Amino acid sequence: MSAESGAQVDQGVLRAHAEDAFAGELAALAAADERPRPPRWRLSPWAVATYLLGGTLPDGTVISPKYIGPRRIVEVAVTTLATDRALLLLGVPGTAKTWVSEHLAAAVCGDSTLLVQGTAGTPEEAIRYGWNYARLLAHGPSRAAMVAGPVMRAMSRGLVARVEELTRIPADVQDSLITILSEKTLPVPELNDEVQAVRGFNLIATANDRDRGVNELSSALRRRFNTVVLPLPATADAEVEIVSRRVAQLGSGLELPPVAGAEAELRRVVTVFRELRAGLTEDGRTRLKTPSGPLSTAEVISVVTGGLALAAHFGDGVLRSADVAAGILGAVVKDPAADTLVWREYLETAVRPRADWQDFYRACRDADPV
Ligand SMILES: Nc1ncnc2c1ncn2[C@@H]1O[C@H](COP(=O)(O)OP(=O)(O)O)[C@@H](O)[C@H]1O
Ligand SMILES: [Mg+2]
Repeated sequence: MSAESGAQVDQGVLRAHAEDAFAGELAALAAADERPRPPRWRLSPWAVATYLLGGTLPDGTVISPKYIGPRRIVEVAVTTLATDRALLLLGVPGTAKTWVSEHLAAAVCGDSTLLVQGTAGTPEEAIRYGWNYARLLAHGPSRAAMVAGPVMRAMSRGLVARVEELTRIPADVQDSLITILSEKTLPVPELNDEVQAVRGFNLIATANDRDRGVNELSSALRRRFNTVVLPLPATADAEVEIVSRRVAQLGSGLELPPVAGAEAELRRVVTVFRELRAGLTEDGRTRLKTPSGPLSTAEVISVVTGGLALAAHFGDGVLRSADVAAGILGAVVKDPAADTLVWREYLETAVRPRADWQDFYRACRDADPV
């Protein structure tokens, strides 16, 4: 299997953790890093930022960019983790919140796996601790009968814990984070004891803009976080770069045969998504209706990856409009009633008049089951 840059561990897992996939880069950074490191950090804040944004080390090692966006955002996120405040990454879906949080945890403490997935059903035990009931019944409550959750493990080992989709977690469960983040301790009333966080502990949470209001963060909890908003890519060029990088990485992981001519089709998919997102054509002349779904960069990535797989396995080895058309339709039309109209109107008003888009227009018409 061809390895991603820096990959050292390859056990055939479908998706390696960041600290394994980029172990080579992390080791090179640690070796070159002479700046001061906060307690228990593997790297200095400067080296963590370089890991995320990419760069070239004095010995010539190339660090691939993980996050493409404003440098300042990454600098603020990294320095927050070195303070006593936790980090909240906020943004619309697909702005790399989860991705950035995983890479930050990997670079700071070498472990991105201490993760709580937030849902409406996340119980308090997921954030605090549960019990091994066989032991609890046999011997009564004791430390040995406790099952530590990811946050508790991060506290006792001085690592970074991650909470995904914080605002989806019921408010009373969210509140169990307040004591952890303000007092840096987790009370264990059953044992009349507590678990104290050791130096190095911090927490990264992510939340979607669109969920705001579902379980709005209490102001007490919000004060414990420094909020960093991840923006949508500012320009089409930036978005094309993000998509081509990720598609290349995913493609080599999937061992897809090489496909030619992807650049032009990729740019067209990015244009379609950006126009529909903005409700305006690129030339600023035609207003468009916007679909109900978020149309994120993450979806552009999966449309193009899907198209490449079609072209590689069933096409002539060239990425053609027909390979991406069905994927685009699926991404844009989330609500069949409303979005189908939005999409057809876009095809007729924006796509059809473009002389060099005729193959794309036909492919999209063919993909649309009327
Ligand atoms: N600015 C960006 N830089 C690098 N990758 C990005 C960027 N925006 C989106 N991506 C890619 O989009 C994908 C989805 O991101 P994800 O972290 O799941 O989004 P979120 O958690 O914000 O919904 C990731 O594979 C990531 O590589
Ligand atoms: Mg996410």
